[in-house]
Amino acid sequence: MQKLIVQGGAKLRGELDLQGSKNSALPIMAAAYLCRGECILHNCPKLTDIYAASRILNYIGCKCSFADNTAVITSAQSGHTAIPEELMQEMRSSIIFLGALLGKNKTGTVSYPGGCELGSRPIDMHLSSFRKMGVDIKEKFGRITCSVRKSIHGAKISLPFPSVGATENIMLCAVLADGETVINNAAREPEIKDLADFLRCCGAKIKGDGESSIVIEGVKELHGCEYTVMSDRIAGATYLAAAAAAGGEIIIHKACVGCMEPFISLLDQTGCSIYTIDDGIYLRSGLRLKAVRDCIRTMPHPGFPTDAQAILMAALIKADGTSVFEENIFDCRYRHTDALVKMGADITVLGKTAVVKGVDRLYGARVEATDLRGGAAMVIAALIAEGKSEITSISHIDRGYEEIELCLQRLGADIKRE
Ligand code: EPU
Repeated sequence: MQKLIVQGGAKLRGELDLQGSKNSALPIMAAAYLCRGECILHNCPKLTDIYAASRILNYIGCKCSFADNTAVITSAQSGHTAIPEELMQEMRSSIIFLGALLGKNKTGTVSYPGGCELGSRPIDMHLSSFRKMGVDIKEKFGRITCSVRKSIHGAKISLPFPSVGATENIMLCAVLADGETVINNAAREPEIKDLADFLRCCGAKIKGDGESSIVIEGVKELHGCEYTVMSDRIAGATYLAAAAAAGGEIIIHKACVGCMEPFISLLDQTGCSIYTIDDGIYLRSGLRLKAVRDCIRTMPHPGFPTDAQAILMAALIKADGTSVFEENIFDCRYRHTDALVKMGADITVLGKTAVVKGVDRLYGARVEATDLRGGAAMVIAALIAEGKSEITSISHIDRGYEEIELCLQRLGADIKRE
């Protein structure tokens, strides 16, 4: 079992190229399955979730290879249309392959991706949307079998909540469906726009992505293309939060500045200097951070991202004053707080609210990563703690951060993997 060993106290200084976005690359890889010919995806992060997606693609008949950060995916005309449970269980977002299977083959069998560290994570919106598009769905012993009697047709779908995964799944199914699909109350996350941009490069007709109503006109076929995946706004938020908390001066290059605005506008309240430069973000932090005066409410984009909640919390543990968080997206996204408290943080969780009273000192400790972003929060806390910390169960962190220890080493942190 690998672990990260962090000696706290170093300031962070230097420059970093941001990795490609996991949450964009995954649906784009599923979308490549819909295309005839070869898709070349640049800026694909080297992450365990991405490798899990490539195993699914290989299983359903694609050839998927990686060299550096480029994935080459060639979709076959035929292949398995039932994804085995063990592949589905490797990651939660395996469910987006159902939209791609249906879009291409009008049939598909998958398993429930299961609950996860963040709570129950149902897929009712995905399935009810497919039903509206003419898909017949049978569920038995955890397997979901989908078939279509006539055709998959466009539909008017109003989502009860702007689910990212449901929006992506509908898009994947609708691009090759008969007629027009309208998604109302669609997710507006930047990754949705990235998926739409990719699909348009392949010949899809999509309008309104990035807004609440997305309109998709089905086409007969999609072709391959060469595309560069957007950069990872949450990894960007993580390195900025780490430097803000530890002190120092960093530049992150290749950052999607506009996408990070909801995070940056709150980090800005902590008193560090943040400027956008050509292709990135500059941050300087010296004195003790100030607590964030506004309640930090996680909301769908363009609200504050739930994926950055734990990360900003870790940066505020030693801030001057009290910061208040409200988690509105997931039921169970405060599991990292126990570890932070073990390190000396003063955090009280009550339902969806967490109150963080800034403390003067944090102490290194042995902690276990509870989930991807919670694990990253523990790394940030370890960077600002006195003494040595050990973070175990780092497979969670490796799902979303490409070589986190090397990135932080490059910025001067004392961190190693054992
Ligand atoms: N939900 C339902 N029913 C559904 C779908 C979602 O009740 O059919 C609920 C979920 O349980 C949750 C909320 O709606 O409470 C939001 O879920 P959403 O579908 O938007 O999330 P997701 O697609 O499963 C993606 C990201 C998450 C990110 C969320 C929210 C990927 C691969 N995952 O998940 O990323 O937190 O959107 O922005 O894109 C992460 O990167 O650490 C991560 C968890």
